[in-house]
Amino acid sequence: PPDPRSPTGVPEPPTAPDARRQSGERLTTAQGLRVDDTDHSLTAGPRGPVLLEDHHLREKITHFDHERIPERVVHARGAGAHGTFRAYGNAASVTKAAFLAEAEAETDVFVRFSTVLGSRGSADTVRDVRGFATKFYTSQGTFDLVGNNFPVFFIQDAVKFPDIIHAGKPHPDREIPQAQSAHDTFWDFISSHTESTHMAMWAMSDRGIPRSYRTMEGFGVHTFRLEAADGTTSLVKFHWKPALGVHSLVWEEAQIAQGADADFHRRDLADAIDAGAFPQWELGLQVMPDTPDETFEGIDLLDPTKIVPEELCPVQRVGIMTLHANPENYFAETEQVAFHVDHLVPGIHVTNDPLMQGRLFSYLDTQLSRLGGPNFAQLPINRPHAPVNDMLRDGMHQTAVHDGIVAYKPNALDDDRPTASPDDGFVTVATPVEGTKGRHHPVSFTDHFRQARLFWLSMTPVEQAHVAQAYAFELGKCASPRVQENMLASLARVDADLASRVATGLGLPVPAGDVPEGVEPSPALSQVPTEPGRVE
Ligand code: HEM
Repeated sequence: PPDPRSPTGVPEPPTAPDARRQSGERLTTAQGLRVDDTDHSLTAGPRGPVLLEDHHLREKITHFDHERIPERVVHARGAGAHGTFRAYGNAASVTKAAFLAEAEAETDVFVRFSTVLGSRGSADTVRDVRGFATKFYTSQGTFDLVGNNFPVFFIQDAVKFPDIIHAGKPHPDREIPQAQSAHDTFWDFISSHTESTHMAMWAMSDRGIPRSYRTMEGFGVHTFRLEAADGTTSLVKFHWKPALGVHSLVWEEAQIAQGADADFHRRDLADAIDAGAFPQWELGLQVMPDTPDETFEGIDLLDPTKIVPEELCPVQRVGIMTLHANPENYFAETEQVAFHVDHLVPGIHVTNDPLMQGRLFSYLDTQLSRLGGPNFAQLPINRPHAPVNDMLRDGMHQTAVHDGIVAYKPNALDDDRPTASPDDGFVTVATPVEGTKGRHHPVSFTDHFRQARLFWLSMTPVEQAHVAQAYAFELGKCASPRVQENMLASLARVDADLASRVATGLGLPVPAGDVPEGVEPSPALSQVPTEPGRVE
């Protein structure tokens, strides 16, 4: 049988111990040479100079010098866990992806939760978006659902991603995350790029300070295209629903937790798993018809700043994930894991959402430098649990032994080379593409306030109070009066009462509540009940 440790399926040499493990009882060099003494360098005489000849000394220090790899450019601070996903089988009507379609199918998963802006050593309970990335090691190859704990994103086009991140990250001069200038640029970006209005409100809501990773929802954000065995397609949004419900900290708790325990969330996750209180999430789908205009009830499904309200399209639960094991080694697993939106399996496809399309480029590109070359799929945490026979060759950190001299198909020299799979391989759904080249501004992407208003109106009075306080607190950190005024003007386009509360909190004049034409909920959205208490 193919050797699961070998990406090519080539059996490992019989005498080689498992390369992933340390073995033997004696301390050795990396070459397996037993070391006589690890506490004293080789010197010329008891008080003499240290000799360059000391291989053990040089190897030990050189390896130490290279222990760090670059942290992720975003989502650097994270915590991971292993688990299992079990499918209910009811998704077979919409997707042929075996791990979703086959009832009771069990699939290994690795999940990494993260904050976005902080560095690797930053505190867990800051106000921020949380990453919720899941690697499904399916029998058909690896599928990654690289989502967040908010259902929308700040921007509609990946070309702005470096801009929003640079606006929010610590500045190059002082590198102080909470500097006034970083507040200025962040809120300047939000008020100048008004498609961010909706997501910024999620960040200011209690969702921005989760109580625990175990009590967060997760969202694939983008619309995906699912394909059933009979070829029918649908447009779908992915949701994770936590068994423990959604819970947040209040701001004061979050601040105290940061000081008392910067590792509050990662400790909570690891402790819960150690104690056998395994966290669980159900995976849910909002399934919408695959129409030529890719809209649903007037909502452009390619716009990642929009939700589809669950009242208009309920979430159907299709399986359950249980996290039951902590990583053995943080670096090998949580740090070296590489997620990618483009890791797909038959039955799941991407769409033309311009943010999603940019991500398809970004993840592999960044991992090439973060993980030192093109062979990081061979790292144990990234190895598929399906057989791999890729005919790729060489490269930095190659650990596989690729057999065969002929690395192409078809060929006339070696019939044993791996064959393609027209029957059950990944075939891109044949969606039509046409249009004029250009940097377009779709009209359907211009509604920047309606869903922010819907979100605001959906909250309870307590939740609304938290949101208004959060805006006032965060905008109060800005040094620029112009940025504060611009944000108040933007909030006035969402809701006059919200703008007035924030202005009062800042001690500034209340802006005119001139909700412009077209900002009131569309007929479809106005069907959504907006009384307090609607949000789960
Ligand atoms: C990392 C989610 C948009 C670039 C991540 C991670 C998550 C995530 C969860 C952490 C992965 C991990 O734990 O290793 C999202 C979501 C987005 C989004 C939900 C929008 C809906 C973007 C965009 C870009 C981008 C538009 C670039 C154009 C990156 C990069 C990393 C990253 C470079 C670091 C990856 C690594 O070093 O392994 N993202 N992201 N993201 N994201 Fe995104």
